[in-house]
Amino acid sequence: MIKQIELLKAEVEAFVFDKNQNAENFRLKYLSKKGIITELFDQFKQLGGEEKRSVGAILNQLKQLAESRWQEQKLAEENDADGSVNQFDTTLPVYQGLPGSAHPLKIVENRLVEIFQTLGFDLAEGPEVEDDEHNFGSLNFAEDHPARDMQDTFFIGDFVLRTHTSSVQIREMEKGKLPLRLIMPGRVYRNEAVSARSNCFFHQIEGLYVDENVSFADLKQTLYYFVQQFFGEGTKVRFRASYFPFTEPSAEMDIWAGLDTEENRRLTKGTGWLEVLGCGMVHPNVLESCGIDSEKYTGFAFGMGIDRITMLKYGINDIRDLFVNDIRMLSQFAGV
Ligand code: PHE
Repeated sequence: MIKQIELLKAEVEAFVFDKNQNAENFRLKYLSKKGIITELFDQFKQLGGEEKRSVGAILNQLKQLAESRWQEQKLAEENDADGSVNQFDTTLPVYQGLPGSAHPLKIVENRLVEIFQTLGFDLAEGPEVEDDEHNFGSLNFAEDHPARDMQDTFFIGDFVLRTHTSSVQIREMEKGKLPLRLIMPGRVYRNEAVSARSNCFFHQIEGLYVDENVSFADLKQTLYYFVQQFFGEGTKVRFRASYFPFTEPSAEMDIWAGLDTEENRRLTKGTGWLEVLGCGMVHPNVLESCGIDSEKYTGFAFGMGIDRITMLKYGINDIRDLFVNDIRMLSQFAGV
């Protein structure tokens, strides 16, 4: 009988659980009322003194081993989400998953950066949490400028969430290396009510070129090239005089969308022109606040909303659609 028990111990030890042999099959075979081990205990009861003692010890070992293997397997099966253990079917086709794709804002940002890089602009980035000096002061904002107001700006203690990427201009000019030719994308924040047309955060891309003899003609030519590349050859452009504290003169640039569709009449408010960006010659005060000699150097800067351009490009009517991360929307941009 001892030999039989030793053999069973080896068998229980080596028992392989699989598709057809789960914890319950194991229990029925060894531990149930009619199981092998239970039957051995019945035989064991009929043994006499000396034999009983030696058999008893190893029979108990066998029982303990079987119970622990059963418990362990039972637990594994309970933990397995679909209740199957080692039951994977190697013949099933591989799950393909959803292919990832760039977010439409990133697609547009990449394209914008690429266009300016071909003109020799380098990529630069700055922090989203800024101090007053970089977001306003060095950019020639008056102490009482309304943009500093609680209404527009999110404050974090002594800091602000940058309200535009123009702060990165300052950070780069302060480094003291000229000439500078930079393209600077990033997220910006404004304390505005969220609606189809505005959000409390959005994205801008800023351009800056500082060197000797940089003129407004250079600015116009650079932006003209960008428009032809991004919106298509032959796209008409116009500049309107405007005001920003950090540029002088300042302008806004529009592109001609036309009035031939209902959509274009709505988007252009009946003018046919779409506002695309703000720009101008870097104000001498700004150059000087960054330690740049404004007698020797001039520069131009421009800034545009990436979200707005993305909406125009893809016909997205609600800015919030860009941020809900609905896979049905995002998947349309796979491979774009
Ligand atoms: N910072 C301006 C804005 O947020 C845009 C701008 C950038 C204008 C650079 C001129 C020069 O509206």
